[in-house]
Amino acid sequence: MSALAHASSLLRSGDVVAFPTETVYGLGANALDEASVAKIFAAKGRPAHNPLIIHVSDIEEARGLTSDWTPEAEALALAFWPGPLSLVLKKNSKIPGIVTAGGETVAIRCPDHPVALALLRACKFPLAAPSANRSNYISPSTAAHVIASLDGRIPLVLDGGPCKAGIESTVLSLVTSPAQILRPGPIPAAILERCGIQVALTNPAVDHLGKNIPQSPGQMPVHYAPTTLLLLRHKHEAAETVSSLLLQGKKVGYMRVSAETTFGFDCTEAIMKVENPENNSSPAVVDMPEEPTAYAKQLYAALHLLDSYNLEVIVCEQPPSSPIWAGITDRLNRAATTTN
Ligand code: TXA
Ligand code: MG
Repeated sequence: MSALAHASSLLRSGDVVAFPTETVYGLGANALDEASVAKIFAAKGRPAHNPLIIHVSDIEEARGLTSDWTPEAEALALAFWPGPLSLVLKKNSKIPGIVTAGGETVAIRCPDHPVALALLRACKFPLAAPSANRSNYISPSTAAHVIASLDGRIPLVLDGGPCKAGIESTVLSLVTSPAQILRPGPIPAAILERCGIQVALTNPAVDHLGKNIPQSPGQMPVHYAPTTLLLLRHKHEAAETVSSLLLQGKKVGYMRVSAETTFGFDCTEAIMKVENPENNSSPAVVDMPEEPTAYAKQLYAALHLLDSYNLEVIVCEQPPSSPIWAGITDRLNRAATTTN
């Protein structure tokens, strides 16, 4: 049996399967079956109040899951699907409450990855799929990351190589007016607005009704974190912080933004060059690309790699504050919050 046939047969029998998308690896189950979706929450240790994104093979399938497929949804889906954009819309009764954490809205996207699309077409039902990692740990951008986090808890990972975007999809709510970005991602607001819609950025602490609850539970500050303490420092302060931690006798990792980066766009930690791993007198240095698309692709691999060494602290240079870096800055802020 081919790996794809094996995967779709597991999904049809109500099990979960990890699969590659263009953003990160997802842990999928039949979105229309409550018992299957419950297995995702169990494998990840994910709290039931955090809703899942549903993956579809095309626009028509998405339309069939919503009660109000708006002209904005149509325009955005035509422009960006398959691609890293999740649209939050009113759900219809086909979707069990477990997927949406009991809410009336659902996040849907069509992934831009041949393996994900082949899997969706083979099983003929939509797949609910969060990132394929234990809850609150760093998202997986390779199959090896999935195995490191979920081995023994899931039956199969389809390996489609490193993910090309590297950070999770942009989540855009179309149930508010104007539309709101609930999670910044690979597609920035300015690019979405080219479709003729107005897009607002969300203050995660305050929802549109003025209540102090997050609109999107994934917007809770603690998320995506490595187990090693991560400190974010301005570019001009980072080297000094590294030196003073070394003087205190700490084992230090250092993620720099550097024009000197020697690895190319297709790099993962297998070939990522780390100077001085686990050496007490110098930091373990990872040079990150200056270009945001390449940086995003390598972000989780760099964090997984540094987290795998026996380090006490990772110092990361803050990337530039321009909107094109918003998705990366969001992930780094979350990674740094847990133990800060
Ligand atoms: O790129 C991605 O989006 C990846 C791949 C696998 O597709 N998936 C992913 O799923 O990142 P997850 O579960 O790790 O993140 C889903 C995000 C969370 O922030 C969640 O709160 C938000 O989407 N979300 C899901 N349904 C929502 C809804 N109905 N309203 C608001 N936010 C929602
Ligand atoms: Mg996640």
